Amino acid sequence: MAKFLIRGGKKLEGEIRLSGAKNAATKMMVASLLTDEECILENFPDIGDTEITAELCRNVGSEVNISGQKLSIKTEKIKNSRVLQLSRKNRIPILALGPLLARVGEAEVPILGGDKIGPRPVDLHIKALETLGAEIKVNSESYVATAKNGLHGAEIKFYFPSVGATENAILAAVMAKGKTVLKNAALEPELMDLVKMLQKMGALIELGANRDFYIEGVPKLHSVSHRVLPDRNEAVSFACLTMATGGKILVREAIQDHLITFLNVVRRIGGEYEVTSEGITFWRPNSLKPLDVETAVHPGFMTDWQQPLAVVLTQAHGISKIHETIYEDRFGYTKDLNLLGAKIKIFEDHPKNSPRKFDGNGSYQFAEIDGPAVLRGNKMQVRDLRSGMVNIIAALVAEGESEIDGVEEIDRGYENIDERLKELGAEIRRADSF
Ligand code: EPU
Repeated sequence: MAKFLIRGGKKLEGEIRLSGAKNAATKMMVASLLTDEECILENFPDIGDTEITAELCRNVGSEVNISGQKLSIKTEKIKNSRVLQLSRKNRIPILALGPLLARVGEAEVPILGGDKIGPRPVDLHIKALETLGAEIKVNSESYVATAKNGLHGAEIKFYFPSVGATENAILAAVMAKGKTVLKNAALEPELMDLVKMLQKMGALIELGANRDFYIEGVPKLHSVSHRVLPDRNEAVSFACLTMATGGKILVREAIQDHLITFLNVVRRIGGEYEVTSEGITFWRPNSLKPLDVETAVHPGFMTDWQQPLAVVLTQAHGISKIHETIYEDRFGYTKDLNLLGAKIKIFEDHPKNSPRKFDGNGSYQFAEIDGPAVLRGNKMQVRDLRSGMVNIIAALVAEGESEIDGVEEIDRGYENIDERLKELGAEIRRADSF
């Protein structure tokens, strides 16, 4: 176990380059299983989640080589379609069902791990694969899938545009016999980048109106070289770090198209930004204003952005409100912020009776943040990936020293984060915890 020791209270300045997006790179590794030819990913992030996915692929029979920011992966033969002994877990293995069914007609992958931010069911994944012709058994350890006669095209309508279920259906449909229509699908930039990679591999995928995809199965996919898009979640974390500490940072390679909703929020709270060919520079010219924000599917305000934004809002003058509509339990981090001196209340029901997204099951979906608050360093334990980043940002804002334990969770999604933050002037040190 490792921890970060952080001395806060300094304005951070300079520039930081985005890594390739975790939530695209991991899916692209799984997509590579669809072909027996070599796939190259450039701008590949060396993070915990790609390591876990590499282990999955090696178990299946892939040859995986990572050199700098380049991954080469080739799966000439599926040597093992029953992958159970993984040393660590994330949410990726279920996406391998489609490619394994396409290659060998059967698959078994472990049940999912990942962040503890709500129940995170996979009913839409299972239903989509079954509609495409798979038979699936779910047991306490694994998902077991077979498709003796192969997968076939079908129409699938999602009741919610789930990112993972859409990816799962696309990965299964690209080599299924016939045509597939996906209705009310997710359109997140990482998913669209996966679609671009698959198109380069020979897939036939069209995007229609109203969140619809039209896919025509092809018998074979081939090699590809693809550059993973820059991580927009990192961009938001660094932008929030800038606004919370009051510095000025150029986030290299940040893409305006992926951040339109977030940039509006920056301006509304009194932050500023400049978009150039190099990236986006963020700063905070004046004091910050409070804001009401509700998370949504893309192109709305993403759920992964509410946690770093909450730290910024602890420094705004007035009461801000966040309504989380994607996950049932994503306000755990507010306890850490309150421990440092923030004034945040969370509610099951909104004080003004806004409709709840989830049924009453004891989950907190609304937060009210009363600012500005003086934050003071303290000890924190990382709860999950994004709230771990909250711990870091809050510690960098806070006066005095903080100790953040369990930083391996942060390493799952942020490459070499301590060294990169040092370049901005952050006082952060990695140490072993005992
Ligand atoms: N859902 C269902 N049934 C399903 C699938 C999803 O009810 O079959 C519900 C979930 O329980 C959740 C909501 O739908 O309440 C959203 O889930 P979705 O499937 O869209 O998300 P995901 O694929 O599990 C990905 C990212 C998340 C990101 C979300 C939303 C990956 C590995 N994870 O999760 O990222 O928050 O999309 O954009 O791509 C992170 O990077 O830290 C992270 C959590």
